[in-house]
Amino acid sequence: MGVPVIRSVGLSKRYGDFYALKDLDLEVAQGEMVGFLGPNGAGKTKTIRLLLGLIHPSAGTAEIFGFECHRKPVEVHRHLAYVPGEANLWPTPTGGETLHLLGEVQGNVVPVYRDELIQRFDLDASKRVRTYSKGNRQKLILIAALITRPDLLLLDEPTGGLDPLMEQAFRRCIHEAGERGQTVFLSSHILGEVEALCDRVGVLRDGTLVDVGTLAELRHLSFLSFLTVDWT
Ligand SMILES: Nc1ncnc2c1ncn2[C@@H]1O[C@H](COP(=O)(O)OP(=O)(O)OP(=O)(O)O)[C@@H](O)[C@H]1O
Ligand SMILES: [Mg+2]
Repeated sequence: MGVPVIRSVGLSKRYGDFYALKDLDLEVAQGEMVGFLGPNGAGKTKTIRLLLGLIHPSAGTAEIFGFECHRKPVEVHRHLAYVPGEANLWPTPTGGETLHLLGEVQGNVVPVYRDELIQRFDLDASKRVRTYSKGNRQKLILIAALITRPDLLLLDEPTGGLDPLMEQAFRRCIHEAGERGQTVFLSSHILGEVEALCDRVGVLRDGTLVDVGTLAELRHLSFLSFLTVDWT
């Protein structure tokens, strides 16, 4: 077994007396597709921000490929691409220029794959970003994350604003990333999305990991009803 892609031990983030995240023990192996389900305020984004090294843990540790997230952000970011639910982007450049810019930062863009993704997501890359709708901005940051084929995709509710056709395009791309051996960590409210893509799911509630397993194993959790799902 190689070094885990994601490993956290006792990872916690506290604000005064309030725990946004408490004692998270998590291990994700290379090539795994792991979902992270939880209602609003459960701590999903906090976890991802800790993994990105954007905030310091109050206790515990988080590592990506063995690098401590808040101490070794350069090494950590060499391995991953991140997609937030909504991104602040520069308004003036075109979509294509933005992809170029973000690709330069990340390195290793596969140009043929970039062009293919622009087509598959039906994005007009010649338009300025300020003219993009929410869904088109989301497509742009998804493409930017995918074009470098990172070892780890950290996705925080990445499909907000996508229409059903684009949600399908997203699922196919993530599925293909998994087939290539990339690791995926996907926070979501959308059970169908997690079910379609993930081998394993962590369920978070009030900052605490309630359970980890396959969705079949977790169906007993009545708490999952927060997803207001149709289990059939
Ligand atoms: N700076 C802060 N100070 C105090 N509490 C905070 C702070 N930032 C976040 N929180 C709280 O931490 C908890 C976890 O927030 P987080 O954004 O991780 O939730 P989430 O699971 O991503 O929710 P959502 O589904 O709405 O995106 C929330 O209750 C939030 O109000
Ligand atoms: Mg969130």
